[in-house]
Amino acid sequence: MKNRRDFLKTSTVAALAAGNLPYWFSGASVQAYNFQAPNERLNIGSIGTGDRWKQVIPNAMNYCNVMAVCDVDAEHRGEGAGIVQKTPGQKGGEVRMYEDYRKILDRKDIDIVTIITPDHWHSKIAIEALRAGKDVYCEKPLTLTIDEGKQIIKAMEETKRVFQVGTQQRSEMSARSGDKTFPHQFLTAVAMVRLGRIGQVKKVTCDIGGAPTSGAIPKGDAPRHLNWDMWLGQAPLVDYRFQEGGGKWGQSRCHYEFRWWYEYSGGKMTDWGAHHVDIATWAIGMENSGPISVEGTAEHPVPFKDGHPTKDDQYNAAHKFDITVMYPNGVEMHVVSNSTDGNGILFEGTEGRLFVSRGALKGKPVEDLATNPLPDDAIANLYKGKKPGDHMRNFMECVKDRAQPISDVWTHHRSMTTCHLSNIAIRLGRKLNWDAEKQEIVGDPQAKLFQAREQRKGYEITG
Ligand SMILES: NC(=O)c1ccc[n+]([C@@H]2O[C@H](COP(=O)([O-])OP(=O)(O)OC[C@H]3O[C@@H](n4cnc5c(N)ncnc54)[C@H](O)[C@@H]3O)[C@@H](O)[C@H]2O)c1
Repeated sequence: MKNRRDFLKTSTVAALAAGNLPYWFSGASVQAYNFQAPNERLNIGSIGTGDRWKQVIPNAMNYCNVMAVCDVDAEHRGEGAGIVQKTPGQKGGEVRMYEDYRKILDRKDIDIVTIITPDHWHSKIAIEALRAGKDVYCEKPLTLTIDEGKQIIKAMEETKRVFQVGTQQRSEMSARSGDKTFPHQFLTAVAMVRLGRIGQVKKVTCDIGGAPTSGAIPKGDAPRHLNWDMWLGQAPLVDYRFQEGGGKWGQSRCHYEFRWWYEYSGGKMTDWGAHHVDIATWAIGMENSGPISVEGTAEHPVPFKDGHPTKDDQYNAAHKFDITVMYPNGVEMHVVSNSTDGNGILFEGTEGRLFVSRGALKGKPVEDLATNPLPDDAIANLYKGKKPGDHMRNFMECVKDRAQPISDVWTHHRSMTTCHLSNIAIRLGRKLNWDAEKQEIVGDPQAKLFQAREQRKGYEITG
């Protein structure tokens, strides 16, 4: 009898070989993707069990056994383990808890690692997980710097593992337009633009919203259940800061609120750019390439000098911005914190405009689909022959058939590069020229330094 590892090596989706039809038209696919048989059920080690974990892992438990949870906050890992133990079909008390993710990477019985930590930890854990032979599901934004993307790609090319980035807009969500519901509005929009339904694309506007600001946040002792040094990882060793107020999580430089500090994240630019800039880049056919220049204006909550914030006690990521990105195919992309259309993506071409967001797909070209629908295989072709609708399931199917999932590292790295360049441009307050072939900022040695970051001793990315 085949064991789980053998199955991973040999399983292919027989249905795909049967012809050009999307596999979900074939009964064989049901057989190929059996996630329930005990010898085919994969084991997950889950690293980072905070807010997002509670949205992602319940679905993953439909396909896998969560055998280990890891968090540098003992309260969060305890809560995570409790949820797993109470979930029917999981292995109850067998789930182990860890503070140090490397203990999970050492376990031979763990097939898959999920990384749902703050952004400044993603790349290091991902690279070590790949080298430990794990398949990886890692939340967006995958990287904190452009060079981290290159490092992950190098590790992918060496290890040939399966990697899904958590940009679920590529798989999920449905929106109404007139009297029609589109089950996959982002895929439909991407297919329409790529198939010329708005003519030649001229302009794309990604409205990703602004970020909150804060006043000075007081120093305090980190909670006893939190390993603050490990939470900081590669980032500089600084005081813990927290105060009640602001959003649900208070104001801090830690849980959830890390998004508004450049030391740990890229602000809204990467938080939501990872979604909308990603979809826009795919639609205009630049997902394996990149811009030629990036410039813009922004407001930051604190003054900046030489690209660095001059205060260390309050949020520092841009809260307002208006970026212009030029592509070699003539498309002009705007990444803005505010627009008349609201959060979403507006595509403008020589033959029409269409707007897509989490709640809408609209515009004359969308109405025209009633009389001139997309070809039957348009979505399937875009979705690499698999059935969209569930981002985690797409990853699990790829773990079985060893294909790369819909949110692959290579194309995600390209859209993140645009977001990172946007941040570098507004931090330094000048236009950047980009060589997409060499993946280097041209003619600006100071800006080029921002393609990477300093890594605190003991937490460097190696290899
Ligand atoms: N795809 C989406 O739509 C979506 C939505 C929300 C969040 N996210 C992403 O998910 C990630 C987590 O966001 P969140 O809101 O859950 O943050 P969070 O602060 O609530 O949770 C992160 C958890 O990671 C833990 N952690 C930090 N360093 C760690 C380490 N070295 N090892 C183990 N655990 C560590 C923290 O203690 C915390 O419990 C972010 O990258 C965020 O962008 C994606």
